[in-house]
Amino acid sequence: MERYRIGILTGGGDCAGINPAIKWAVKSALDTRLAAERDTQYEVVGIKNGWEGLMNLDPSNPSDTDHVIPLTEELVRTWDRYGGTNLGTSRANPYNPTHDVSQTVIQNMGSLGLDALIAIGGDDTLGVALRLSRDGVHVVGIPKTIDKDLPGTDYTLGFETAMNVVVEGVDRLRTTAGSHRRVFVVETMGRHAGWLALEGGESSGAYIILIPECDFSMERVNELLLDGRRSGARYEIVIVAEGAKPSGGSEFVRDNRIDSFGHMSLGGIGEFVARAIQQGTGVETRSIVLSHLQRGGVPCAYDRRMGRYFGIAAVDLVVGKDFGKMVAFRNGQVTAIPLEEALRGPHLVDVETQYDTARYNGRRSMLGVHSG
Ligand code: F6P
Repeated sequence: MERYRIGILTGGGDCAGINPAIKWAVKSALDTRLAAERDTQYEVVGIKNGWEGLMNLDPSNPSDTDHVIPLTEELVRTWDRYGGTNLGTSRANPYNPTHDVSQTVIQNMGSLGLDALIAIGGDDTLGVALRLSRDGVHVVGIPKTIDKDLPGTDYTLGFETAMNVVVEGVDRLRTTAGSHRRVFVVETMGRHAGWLALEGGESSGAYIILIPECDFSMERVNELLLDGRRSGARYEIVIVAEGAKPSGGSEFVRDNRIDSFGHMSLGGIGEFVARAIQQGTGVETRSIVLSHLQRGGVPCAYDRRMGRYFGIAAVDLVVGKDFGKMVAFRNGQVTAIPLEEALRGPHLVDVETQYDTARYNGRRSMLGVHSG
């Protein structure tokens, strides 16, 4: 029977759904009945802390437990119940233009005896996977990001759990907002994509939802809020995506630091909007930033199930030696697409068909019979 060694790593921001994907990739790879059918004995090695693990591995000691860990069925048995990533993650970039160590990564994969690599990540991690694949590495990808901004897949692991955090947060804020007759502004993550704000706002019934894909007018926001008060509302919930901005303005950034993939850390728009509301309407307004709470907690049922499907599908790709691909969910089916296709991004909200620009909210017509 042939022997085959698979590495698995998780890169970029953590989220719920990653551990279920690791568990099911391991279970599928090590399955004894399948091994007989495949006539191949697979082995799985976890790489710790994303690409950093492969960058920093000591090639003279390839079983160094600071950077790698053998993954057994027994070890991963309970992993689908946990959030985050038990392998650890980092935003390290082997192709960092100021310090390219991609050859070290390729050599270290060789010292580890890896025949293939499963990379679980968003556009940054999968962008590295694509470049490695072009450099001849056998790699496949699993999409995860609470931003849900990868093209070619209708789902990225972590999104539903993060959206549940938005809903739970808004539910909790409603009672205090109502008691005090306040407006509450809730800032969500999502980077340049509005999915988490829009779908989280739709799920929680937010009064106003501001997304990066549609610059907003503060005057219009205040007008809508005063309309709400005039029609008897005691309080309003405004959801604002961290990447949203007022017309003529620019994205709010926390500081000027740029990570190795060229991203700035967004944040601060929620407080800006809250102040402008209080000033423009006279209504007492508070803001809250959900921040990393959205990435935390146990995976919801959907992320456990999708993690399972994606993990198994990634191993199917490896078994079929169908490299350079990412598993995807499209039209209700688990499938696979070339990594290139998943990186023709970002996949953003289509304002024309998915957003109501007059109400700053989700659409009130699903079948396209009205414009709003
Ligand atoms: O890409 C996922 C994400 O959570 C974004 O929504 C957010 O802007 C960013 O990561 C935050 O990154 P960090 O965890 O490095 O602060």
